[in-house]
Amino acid sequence: MKHTPNSLSTGNNGLQIGGIDIADLVSQYGSPLYVMDDATLRGNCRLYTEPLKEHYPNSQVLYAGKANLNLPLINIMHSEGMGLDVVSGGELYTALKSKMDPTHIYFHGNNKSVEELRLALKNGVNIVLDNEQELDNIISLTQEGLDAKVMIRLKPEIEAHTHEYIKTGQIDSKFGFDKRELGALSIKIADQDKVQYLGIHSHIGSQIFDTEPFLDSVDIMLGYADTIREASGLETSQLNLGGGIGIQYTEADNPPEIPAYMAAVCNKVKEACKQRGIAEPKLLFEPGRSIVGNAGITVYTVGTIKEIEGVKTYIFVDGGMADNPRPMMYQAEYTYDLAHQPGVKGDKEYAIAGKFCESGDVLTHKVNLPEVNVGDLLVVYGTGAYNYVMASNYNRAVRPAMVLVAGGQAKELIKRETLDDLMQYDQKDSV
Ligand code: LLP
Repeated sequence: MKHTPNSLSTGNNGLQIGGIDIADLVSQYGSPLYVMDDATLRGNCRLYTEPLKEHYPNSQVLYAGKANLNLPLINIMHSEGMGLDVVSGGELYTALKSKMDPTHIYFHGNNKSVEELRLALKNGVNIVLDNEQELDNIISLTQEGLDAKVMIRLKPEIEAHTHEYIKTGQIDSKFGFDKRELGALSIKIADQDKVQYLGIHSHIGSQIFDTEPFLDSVDIMLGYADTIREASGLETSQLNLGGGIGIQYTEADNPPEIPAYMAAVCNKVKEACKQRGIAEPKLLFEPGRSIVGNAGITVYTVGTIKEIEGVKTYIFVDGGMADNPRPMMYQAEYTYDLAHQPGVKGDKEYAIAGKFCESGDVLTHKVNLPEVNVGDLLVVYGTGAYNYVMASNYNRAVRPAMVLVAGGQAKELIKRETLDDLMQYDQKDSV
């Protein structure tokens, strides 16, 4: 999978996406602008769903909404036959307003409130149990007459090779139960008439390039299913292996091909079940980044060029850390292009900085581009995941619009915020 969207092309006016000039999109929707490519989104869903149809039909792909979530985007996922993973009351609420069947929604989180759990149970949403307090809260809710369907989130205790902040499968992770708790936990679940046990879940991290840890986690997880059966008699009918497949941000990144990964993991599950003499569980996956990441680009307008003689030349863009905090948080690297000269590396070295009142608001310290001028449109690839959803109103910035392009047409997924939106909760007469 490349870092660029599938529908990228070059026309007379420079870069196009979905058959539309980037410059036209900016004229219509303003700058900065997030653009999502429908063809890439759907193509990425199918990289998962098509091999599964062939190798393991008893399966479902849940889009991990935390990567990029809004009502129309959920509806696109629904139309591709995807389910949904939500992690908060806010994501859940949005999902319940969408076309997604609530029974295809799985609710994660290490500190779900009773209110959030009640909303989920009332709507038949599946719960991914994180800790014992949560189970106690669910049991109280069943006493109100609600039914619950639960997965148990477990730590496979695998160290995936990724950024330390986003490793989640290891023993000291704040997420999930560890294996020593499994026996007593499963007995407690089995004792509840109104709590239905579905299965087990693991997520070993994000932006992972190596498929080996995922394959290793299959045996570990099926071992946990054995522990559960032996302790409580409960049968694991669903196995969720989480998300985490990495994507290409720059040419240095070499992520695995998803169909090959899917085939390998399906075969691994089938073999392992055969060896153990157990029925094959329904297989679930929860990809986020690899569904939306390369489908999205951000377009900025260059406002100022500042040369610090003999040191470096800054390009200042009209966004930065508020619409993309990832370079500051994770030292994330991206690939950049000038919209009117796509693919031209150029021999000028620039740093690209945002407009926020913070020295660290630098998107990249070093990029080679052709000569940049004020007014140029700068394109950043691979911003479809963990950008808008992590964006802020720092310095009272308005969040940019997000548009979807397909077949020469653009539609707004999310409108640009207005300055009055920023003021909407300020109490004008309170002081
Ligand atoms: N399932 C669970 C339980 C997760 O915690 C995550 C991501 C996913 C699925 C989706 O993982 P993906 O396929 O997107 O790798 N903000 C960070 C990423 C945090 C990921 C958190 N969990 C970033 O910008 O890189």
